[in-house]
Amino acid sequence: MEKILNALPTSKTIHPDVNVLKDVHKRSLENPELFWQKFADELFWYEKNGLAFQPMEEPPYAKWFASMKTNISYNALDRHVESWRKNKVAYYWEGENGEKRTLTYYDLYREVNKFASVLRSLGVRKGDRVTIYMPMIPELLISMLATVRIGAIHSVIFAGFAAQAIADRVNDSQSKVIITADESYRRGKTIEIKGVVDEALKHTTTVEKVLVVRRGHNIVNMVEDRDVWYHELVESADAYVEPEKLDGMHPSFILYTSGTTGKPKGATHGTAGYMVWAYFTQKVVFDVNDKDIFWCAADVGWITGHTYIVYGPLISGVTSLIYEGAPDYPTPDRWWDMIERYGVTIFYTSPTSIRMHMKHGESWAKKHQLSTLRILGSVGEPINPEAWSWYYKYIGQEKTPIVDTWWQTETGGIMISPQPGLALVPLKPGSATFPLPGVDADVYTEDKMIAKPDEKGYLVIRKPWPGEFITIWGDHERFKKTYFTKFPGFYYPGDFAMKDSDGYLWLLGRADEVLKVAGHRIGTIELENVLISHPAVAESAVIGKADPIKMQVPVAFVILRPGYTPSPQLRVELINQIRQAIGPIAAPQALYFVNKLPKTRSGKIMRRVIGAVAEERNIGDITTLEDETSVEEAKKAYEEFKLEILSVEENLR
Ligand code: PRX
Repeated sequence: MEKILNALPTSKTIHPDVNVLKDVHKRSLENPELFWQKFADELFWYEKNGLAFQPMEEPPYAKWFASMKTNISYNALDRHVESWRKNKVAYYWEGENGEKRTLTYYDLYREVNKFASVLRSLGVRKGDRVTIYMPMIPELLISMLATVRIGAIHSVIFAGFAAQAIADRVNDSQSKVIITADESYRRGKTIEIKGVVDEALKHTTTVEKVLVVRRGHNIVNMVEDRDVWYHELVESADAYVEPEKLDGMHPSFILYTSGTTGKPKGATHGTAGYMVWAYFTQKVVFDVNDKDIFWCAADVGWITGHTYIVYGPLISGVTSLIYEGAPDYPTPDRWWDMIERYGVTIFYTSPTSIRMHMKHGESWAKKHQLSTLRILGSVGEPINPEAWSWYYKYIGQEKTPIVDTWWQTETGGIMISPQPGLALVPLKPGSATFPLPGVDADVYTEDKMIAKPDEKGYLVIRKPWPGEFITIWGDHERFKKTYFTKFPGFYYPGDFAMKDSDGYLWLLGRADEVLKVAGHRIGTIELENVLISHPAVAESAVIGKADPIKMQVPVAFVILRPGYTPSPQLRVELINQIRQAIGPIAAPQALYFVNKLPKTRSGKIMRRVIGAVAEERNIGDITTLEDETSVEEAKKAYEEFKLEILSVEENLR
């Protein structure tokens, strides 16, 4: 505790490691061309003449490695297979039921080549989109790597999403192929995910082939001429596929994420910039070496899994652990047991998971020998000091630094975080500390001025960085408008932040109508759209209510159409409609029937008023940064709305 937390720099005495970071950071921003050229030399390129960094007039304001040619799968696999790492373990995989698989770099290389050959034989070509909807099994990663090997573009959909969400994403990306599995396991239950894909495909027209991995044993409905078993195709596939030589800005994948409209955004990443960023951040933040056992306990269906289960670790030649199931199954010490059994050295998870384990109690962690750990990480939401301290004390045994990493689907990799791979600055629980090299982050006020120390404002990234996404699939205008207009010329991530007098950054949560539920990003408007598609619903508002474990949970307020009356059955029906359209992660924790919603004079729903009522908070506690209503107007609406909910609730009982 002493070493890491003490000696905090004050404005007067700057810790020496802070100066190291500041110096590298300054050099990276002053001469991005030199900085990234030099770093890119560590990777493999088919052609490496040309600029690493080319400024652009238009968002995203830069092209990265645009005239160079490379391939991510080559850098993740072939590069190691040609070295002593050929037989090094790439992944230890463990199924929820205890099954185990070990894949060396060479094993993975062979599997990826065979599957790339299968995709080619099915007519998948450079630029085609491939949707992947799979549990956390090695074939999920193999599918991603095979797709990028042939220059096709993967769109991985988290396996907890429901049929309608899959259909929307397949239609938006116009995918030709879906790769899935027969079933998946979670908390000992079997989920028939192939059936979910069948349902989704009733609402799509582009998919020609469905490839099904055999994970379970049950009988599966296979549609003739469309559905094929993965293992049957791989059996007779070629052992080698020449990787496509791809331009730096060639799209490598689409990952859908929620925004402030009903339609999820297909965040599209390029090839070389993303690759360099995944590799760079893996090294700078996690300080990986060949002795490490790295474990990112996220799901590959989210960006954290893309970058720190698949691409970052593989490009760095690290050994990683992948676990298929629930963190507390069959007992709450499943994770701690795995850390002990595999000798995990670096462990990366979310504050929600930490809080869940806190609830189970530290006795579960104390049963295990966790002394191999040397770095702990946190991602997805602000980490509250209690969770930070628990993680530090019981998992890190008071000697392991915690890297609180701020970033987003759009940023490709970590942006603001402690950087043990460069220099470890003293930590402050709850602060993500400093921006990485290449990241020009600061905090601005609504009036576009740099915020004063300790003043809450908006996080802004002033310069492009290599991992920046290149567009929203099929909607470049939305890309420009959403991220580059609030602070013209700068990237606006949509987060509140604050910089303290030591220059440490504190990330304070979303500034828009996007929720963070157990680390997952959920757009309130997506949920509202599902609700109003029900014949009984005239209007709805969904807000995030503070939750001690998940950080936020959705809570819905619904105005019914004339002729419909509130009832417990209707409430269940509406909540189920969300489960079925989006998935269980988005299901509201509560749904209230109301007669009116508080609105501003211009008709905008006053979410902070609804939020205050839902959390039984006083309207006075609320910052005025969130929307433009006056405090008086908000107070009046609060009082009226509070009565409204109480009376409607009583009517229902
Ligand atoms: O609000 C920030 C929060 O998560 C958002 C990005 O969500 P997503 O694209 O799903 O990516 C999550 C994993 C990278 C951000 O806009 N967020 C992420 N990490 C942190 C965080 N908020 C505070 N502290 C963090 N370390």
